[in-house]
Amino acid sequence: MTIEFPFHHRLRVRWSEVDAQRVVFNGHYLNYLDTAISDYWRAVGLPYPEGLAHLKGDIFVRRNVLEYHAPARLDDWLDIGVRCERIGRSSITMVWSMQANGRLLVTGETVYVFTQLTTGRPEPVPAAVRLQLERQAQGAPVHSLHCGDWASLAPLARAVRTAVFIEEQAIPESEEWDEDDTQALHAVVANLAGLPLATGRLITSGLPQGEAKIGRMAVLRSSRGVGLGEQVLQALIGAAREQSVHTLSLHAQTSAQAFYQRAGFAPDGPVFDEVGIPHIVMTLRL
Ligand SMILES: CC(C)(COP(=O)(O)OP(=O)(O)OC[C@H]1O[C@@H](n2cnc3c(N)ncnc32)[C@H](O)[C@@H]1OP(=O)(O)O)[C@@H](O)C(=O)NCCC(=O)NCCS
Repeated sequence: MTIEFPFHHRLRVRWSEVDAQRVVFNGHYLNYLDTAISDYWRAVGLPYPEGLAHLKGDIFVRRNVLEYHAPARLDDWLDIGVRCERIGRSSITMVWSMQANGRLLVTGETVYVFTQLTTGRPEPVPAAVRLQLERQAQGAPVHSLHCGDWASLAPLARAVRTAVFIEEQAIPESEEWDEDDTQALHAVVANLAGLPLATGRLITSGLPQGEAKIGRMAVLRSSRGVGLGEQVLQALIGAAREQSVHTLSLHAQTSAQAFYQRAGFAPDGPVFDEVGIPHIVMTLRL
């Protein structure tokens, strides 16, 4: 099969998915597909469900067709290719294929219907959904980066930080918002419909000349793993360079230490507690 897919998801067959015939039970392929398509929406810039809820909509599967060509077995790595084949009035048709080591296993077609969030009835696919899908298929950016002060970016940055720090990590509101916000440079990555997905800030005021701090780095849970944190971090490092900063530091949650290490930050001191979460100071010389 030579169909081109602009998106691929890989997963490995687990013990519990293999039946008495020693092959993957036919019903599991819809779960595999759902995992792949959730990842596809993330890559398209419409993480599920926030990306659609932001447009006051949701999607439901209306039709699924599967064709089984060959069985998958325990420990096979499945490569699932997905593409948007057609956008109708309210329908979105996806075509997909699953392969293992170049062997074609299962192919299919899934029709989703875009519905209004409150009524559950079909609605025309919004232009914003079409745009995100088309841009992903063309390999064009599906996100935009915004840098600015608190006055211009507070609503966007607040939405991400509320979801990540206050709701997900249970950090008290009183600890989250501080005076540094009004002095800092903020970076926000949003999708093309304006839904904020990632943020961070750069503080220079109140610090010795040539030093700056990065903080409040957060990516919505449903958009992690697609490079948005990296985009925010590089924007803030770039802004620090423009301001002739020579030493950048940050308090990293230890679970994110490897992420900052990849960008060149090095640990600088022992692990300590901040807002009930283990942190470590990391620095980068520019
Ligand atoms: C999804 C749902 C809201 C759509 O409502 P509906 O009244 O059936 O939809 P309509 O007849 O207005 O058709 C809506 C679109 O789906 C398409 N469609 C409907 N039935 C279809 C079928 N059997 N095959 C392919 N496309 C179909 C229509 O062509 C139309 O597309 P268009 O707007 O691009 O022209 C409704 O069918 C539903 O709730 N189904 C159950 C969904 C579900 O539980 N899915 C599993 C969980 S996700």
